[in-house]
Amino acid sequence: MLYSEKVMDHFRNPRNVGEIENADGVGEVGNAKCGDIMKMFLKIDDGIVTDVKFQTFGCGSAIATSSMATEMIKGKSVDEALQLSNKAVVEALDGLPTHKIHCSVLAEEAVKAAVKDYYDKNGIAYDACMFKEASCEHCH
Ligand code: FES
Repeated sequence: MLYSEKVMDHFRNPRNVGEIENADGVGEVGNAKCGDIMKMFLKIDDGIVTDVKFQTFGCGSAIATSSMATEMIKGKSVDEALQLSNKAVVEALDGLPTHKIHCSVLAEEAVKAAVKDYYDKNGIAYDACMFKEASCEHCH
C-alpha cells in the first residue's frame, strides 16, 4: 500500500478546510516544483491558535498533510505552531512515499507564512531567520 490509512483518511475527509474571515494571519505559499498552492488562515487569541483553516490547490498528499497540520496546531501556542515541522506531520500520518515528502513542506511553510503575517500585522518583532524558506532535499 503506497499510502497509509491515515493519509487516505485525511485526504478523503480533510479537516479544517475553508477560510476564516478576518483571520489574524494568512499565509499563502506555492511549491515551485509542481505549481501547487496552499493558503492557511489563523485565528489567534492571546498567543493561542484558536482556529485554523486551509485551502489548497494541491495534490492528495498536500491535502492530507495540511489537514493533519491544522489538527496539530489548533489550540497550541503560536510558538508551538512555528515549531511544527513537516517531518512531524509526516510521522503523524504514518509516513509518505519518499517522492511525496516535498508536498508536506507546503503545510509547514503555510503555517509559518501565516504566523509571519500575524506578526507583521501586529507589529510583533521576530527573527527573520525563522522564516527562511525551508529547502526540500527531496525535490528533483
Ligand atoms: Fe505538488 Fe504534492 S505534487 S504538493
